[in-house]
Amino acid sequence: MSLSTLLQRFTEPETLKMAKLGRELRAKGIDVIDLSLGEPDFDTPEHIKQAAIKAVNDNWSHYTPVPGYLELREAVCTKLKRDNNLDYKPEHIVVSTGAKQSLANTILALVDDDDEVVIPTPYWVTYSELVKIARGKVVEVRSKVEDGFKINAAQLEAVITPKTKAFLFSSPCNPSGAVYSREELAALVEVFKKYPQIYVIADEIYEYINYVGDHQSIAQFDEIKTAWYS
Ligand SMILES: Cc1ncc(COP(=O)(O)O)c(C=O)c1O
Repeated sequence: MSLSTLLQRFTEPETLKMAKLGRELRAKGIDVIDLSLGEPDFDTPEHIKQAAIKAVNDNWSHYTPVPGYLELREAVCTKLKRDNNLDYKPEHIVVSTGAKQSLANTILALVDDDDEVVIPTPYWVTYSELVKIARGKVVEVRSKVEDGFKINAAQLEAVITPKTKAFLFSSPCNPSGAVYSREELAALVEVFKKYPQIYVIADEIYEYINYVGDHQSIAQFDEIKTAWYS
């Protein structure tokens, strides 16, 4: 069998390997605490199940506009205003089938051959694989345990080159749990202000799985919203 070079460029995620190992050990009767996959340990809540069933019964099952139904994008804007005090319009929103799909679409839309994508470590393993699919280059910035697994402005600026296309991070972070404060984000934004060609890709999927309590989005800083956005 000859697979495409695209498929050969990436490897099986360590998280999936660990999840498989966890299942195998559990099947042997060993008590395993599996921290591999970021999946909640509860079933889909009842009101969400019922809303999905109602949507099918109401025939919300036809092809959608490419960015998603307008009503859904309006609801996303309402959430962003209510929970994050962020002003977005439906035309700024694209709905995808999960965060992984959103990240894949974003990276494939932005990253060209040899473009550099800066990613603080430790990071969710999918990030580097998606950059590889796009033929980009991953530039890791090592965070330190004594800094709470967060990077600072000097570390960020030290790795920026004319090839830097994007900065990709999650806060709260999988796997470290690190949460950037408003001040820490503001310090990074001061660097991005000097390099307007860099796109910031903020994965905020764990907004509510947060052991600090306060979640801050880097989208609150106007400089992060690019000219085409406003
Ligand atoms: C940081 C991070 N982003 C995105 C995802 C995937 O999100 P989804 O299941 O919505 O594709 C995960 C799943 O583990 C994750 O840890």
